[in-house]
Amino acid sequence: MQSWFPFVPESASTLSSDVDALYFYISGVTVFFTLLVSIVVIFFVIRYRRRNPFEIPRPIEGSHKLETLWSVIPLLIAMTIFFWGAKVYFAQYRPAHNAIEVYVVGKQWMWKFQHATGQREINELHVPVGRKVKLIMTTEDVIHDVFVPAFRIKEDVVPGKYTTEWFEATKPGRYNFFCAEYCGMNHSGMRGYVVVMEPTEYENWLSGNAGQTSPAAAGRALYESLGCVSCHGANAEGGRGPALLGVYDSKVVLNNNQTITADEGYIRESILNPQAKIVTGFGPIMPSFQGQITEEQLLQVVAYVKSLSTAKPETPTAKPAPSAKPSATPAR
Ligand code: CUA
Repeated sequence: MQSWFPFVPESASTLSSDVDALYFYISGVTVFFTLLVSIVVIFFVIRYRRRNPFEIPRPIEGSHKLETLWSVIPLLIAMTIFFWGAKVYFAQYRPAHNAIEVYVVGKQWMWKFQHATGQREINELHVPVGRKVKLIMTTEDVIHDVFVPAFRIKEDVVPGKYTTEWFEATKPGRYNFFCAEYCGMNHSGMRGYVVVMEPTEYENWLSGNAGQTSPAAAGRALYESLGCVSCHGANAEGGRGPALLGVYDSKVVLNNNQTITADEGYIRESILNPQAKIVTGFGPIMPSFQGQITEEQLLQVVAYVKSLSTAKPETPTAKPAPSAKPSATPAR
C-alpha cells in the first residue's frame, strides 16, 4: 500500500504509523497557526490602517488576561508535542528483547551484515516479517548512519563503540536503506535494501545460506587463539580473570563499588581497554587487545561471550548444523 500522502515513504514497521501521526500533528499545528497569524496580521493592517494624516492612535495599556491566554495556550500545545514525542521516542529507543540479532559493520563505502547464525551479506539484509530485529552496529573508519525510511528508524554508527537500533517489519517487500551521515566521496552510494520475507521463506533463505561459521563459534576460536583461556578459563568459568559464563546482561560490581550492566559496549570496552572497568576482587592484570583484533573479530568475541549467557534463550531462529541436530541440548 502506498502512503496516503505524497512525499511520505511507505509505512512498513510497527513504529512508522506512530512517527507519522506525530509528524502530521506537528505539521498541522504549525500550518494552522501560520495561517491564523497571517490572516489576523492582514486583517489588522487593513482594519487599523491610518485613514488621514492627522489621526492620533488611541494609547493601548496592555491586557494581562490576553497575555496569560497567549502564553498558556501555546504552552499546553507544546506540552502535547513533548509528551507525545517522548512516548514515541521511548518506544523506539528502549532496547528490544527477544529480537533476532544482526551485526552490522560500516566502512567506506559499504555495509556488512552478519546474522547470529553465520550468514553474511553486503548491502542487503534479509529479515522475517513480524519479528523484532536488533542491529548491533559499529564502523571500521568514520561515522556512518543506518537510515531505513520505510521503518522510520535512523541511528549513527560510530567508531570505537556499539550503537543499536531495532525494528519490526509489518509487511514483506524490499525497502531502501541509506547511509545518512556524510562520510566521503561515495556517501550517496552507500545504500542497499532490507528484504522482508514471510517467515517460511526466511527460514528457507537461512538454510540455503547455512554452513557458515556463526559469529559465536568464530569468537570461541579467537577466545582460544588470543589466549583468553589462560585467565578466563577453558570454558569461561573464570580464574585469574572473572568468569564470563552468564555475564552478558547481568549486573557487575566494579572495584569502585559501581554497579553496571554487562552489555555489548561493556564487553567491547573490557577487551580494548581492560583497565577502564575492573570487576571487584580482580587485579588490573589484563593486557589490552587494541590493534590486535578487527571490528569484525571483536563482534565475534562479543557474540561468543553473549552465547555463554545461561539466562537468555539461544537465538530462536538459529538452526544447528545438520550433524549437530540430534544431540543438541536446549539450554534449560
Ligand atoms: Cu557512510 Cu555516508
